[in-house]
Amino acid sequence: MATQTGITIEGPNKLYTIVNNLPRSTPGPKQALVKCLAVGINPVEALQQHTGLLINEWPAVIGSDCAGVVLEVGPDCTKLSPGDHVYGCAPLGQNKFTPFQDTFLVDEEIFLKKSANLSVEETATVGAGLLTAGLCLLAGMGLTLPEDGTKAPEKDEWIVVLGGTGTVGQFAVQIAHVCGYKVLASCSPSKSAIAISNGAAATFNNRASIDEQLAEIKGITGGNFARIFDATAYGYELMLKALETCSTAETKSPFNTPPTIKEYRAELGHLCRLDEPIGAAVTKDIASWIPTFETHLAAGTLKPIEYQVVDGVGWEKVIQGIQELESGKAAKKIVVRTQNE
Ligand SMILES: NC(=O)c1ccc[n+]([C@@H]2O[C@H](COP(=O)([O-])OP(=O)(O)OC[C@H]3O[C@@H](n4cnc5c(N)ncnc54)[C@H](OP(=O)(O)O)[C@@H]3O)[C@@H](O)[C@H]2O)c1
Repeated sequence: MATQTGITIEGPNKLYTIVNNLPRSTPGPKQALVKCLAVGINPVEALQQHTGLLINEWPAVIGSDCAGVVLEVGPDCTKLSPGDHVYGCAPLGQNKFTPFQDTFLVDEEIFLKKSANLSVEETATVGAGLLTAGLCLLAGMGLTLPEDGTKAPEKDEWIVVLGGTGTVGQFAVQIAHVCGYKVLASCSPSKSAIAISNGAAATFNNRASIDEQLAEIKGITGGNFARIFDATAYGYELMLKALETCSTAETKSPFNTPPTIKEYRAELGHLCRLDEPIGAAVTKDIASWIPTFETHLAAGTLKPIEYQVVDGVGWEKVIQGIQELESGKAAKKIVVRTQNE
């Protein structure tokens, strides 16, 4: 059996270990074997390592945002060929699909093919942020991205994004903007330019009191919004109060408490879990959006987010990148080059 190098975790809260005896997989139908060239670091990696959540086999190989080059394709592949560069978010929990190793399998329908305008490092910033924002805005809020890669005509309606500077939040701002909405984003005041550069029309301080934030939402939108998305996991109370007390819309999303408010929760962790109804729905939705996402990323109407690259190349650099994210000092999305092409 061919073996390869990567990072494993023996169990919850165990250290990351670099090993060279991981099995190399063979692609099945509609799958490609991809050489991992770069990864983006997400909060979920530290969560998995500390708690074991979203891990189904031990020792575990983890990783989510990734970019690489196709080495080999399985039967029935119609989209990918050897030599193609791809990027996306790996389904969590099964070692053969996760990118913290020399090669991993991708399902060709849920990964994006890299266009010439993007670098490998840029594409490593995209996966989980784009797909999570896509789930919330396209499936949850019912927005439609123009299929031809253009921006939709401007609508006279706001969407509020809590956390317009995070990985997920930046893509949410972009998608809402491309769909024609005026976007109001919350963020740390020092990071306002990030939200604006992604397409937000205005920002407000996400560390102000709830009452101050409600006053900003009401003042800026005039109540002309029906949709609010929390990309921070801190915003439940604010979302509920904003929809109840600021919005003038009759039907509101995404909460269903009270019943006039419709709630949607992203479940990206269930991607490719086809034996679960939610996993099947998430996978089907994402596969249906991939061609449109590719068109927008090639056209530049959707774009990778700003990032910082860890110096050097290799698996020890991935561990360093996770530690940098956990330390809270990273100013931008962290990207790590894992192997030279
Ligand atoms: N359910 C799913 O499928 C799914 C998928 C992906 C991610 N997630 C979750 O979504 C969240 C965001 O992920 P991410 O990758 O975008 O993280 P990230 O890049 O670290 O972004 C975090 C965001 O939270 C904001 N924030 C941090 N502390 C805050 C506070 N005390 N009050 C208000 N806002 C605060 C930040 O704003 P400033 O920096 O501007 O202050 C930033 O916009 C995480 O909790 C992640 O686990 C869920």
